[in-house]
Amino acid sequence: MRKLTDDRALYEALLGDARDPSAEARVASRALARRGIVAPSTIVEPCAGHAPHGDALARAGHRVLAVDLSRAMLAGARRAFPLRADACAMPIRSAVADAVILAFEALALFVDDDALLGLLAECARVLRPGGCLLVDLEEPGWARGDVPSRAHTYRRERVGDARAEFLEHPLDWRRGTQRFEVRGRDRRGAFREQSVLRLLDPAQVALVARATGCFLADGQALQARSPLRLWVILRRLPAVA
Ligand SMILES: C[S@@+](CC[C@H](N)C(=O)[O-])C[C@H]1O[C@@H](n2cnc3c(N)ncnc32)[C@H](O)[C@@H]1O
Repeated sequence: MRKLTDDRALYEALLGDARDPSAEARVASRALARRGIVAPSTIVEPCAGHAPHGDALARAGHRVLAVDLSRAMLAGARRAFPLRADACAMPIRSAVADAVILAFEALALFVDDDALLGLLAECARVLRPGGCLLVDLEEPGWARGDVPSRAHTYRRERVGDARAEFLEHPLDWRRGTQRFEVRGRDRRGAFREQSVLRLLDPAQVALVARATGCFLADGQALQARSPLRLWVILRRLPAVA
């Protein structure tokens, strides 16, 4: 069955309204500039998808390498340079990136601890000392007591000829994960996407910092439309002589 990441247009149409990547990229750009990282800097975006943030940063004059496993998603990158590769083994030289950005579930997708640590080690490898790691974090619903006790549909949508419903499953406290599903149908047939996401909370920023040799520098709300999401800005420790 088709997955959303096989169909970029559908992915964008169904998930695009929750965010404004151009506005988020402007916030990121300003946060980087405050740390002396100005265009044309080199930015690596692992799990970039169709690189909505990367494209906006590339339009602002940065050199962006968008890394993703999905050919269909990467085909949507307009200005960022697409690199089809595993984010845990990027064909990129060490310490070349002034910044690395992990956006929109890029981190939460790595529910397996070894895979997450592999991704973070790879981010640290390509990031130069003093460079910035930007991670987009969503304030977890469960922190607000917003905990589904059984699977429930939280959104039904009609986009063009597609109808889709979004399902949220109960939290798996033991694994620290939650399962989400999007399923629907359009003129080309049925589609379904399931993702198991790691529950991210601010405490996990400490794990990211530790695994990447970074320190926490700042947090910036991504944009007014989604005030509960923020860029967490970490900075790689300068190399010790
Ligand atoms: C939820 S999408 C996020 C895309 C993008 N960051 C955005 O803001 O729209 C997650 C992306 O991660 C990619 N992905 C998942 N595992 C990956 C891996 N190990 N290496 C590279 N890309 C991966 C998927 O193909 C998908 O495009």
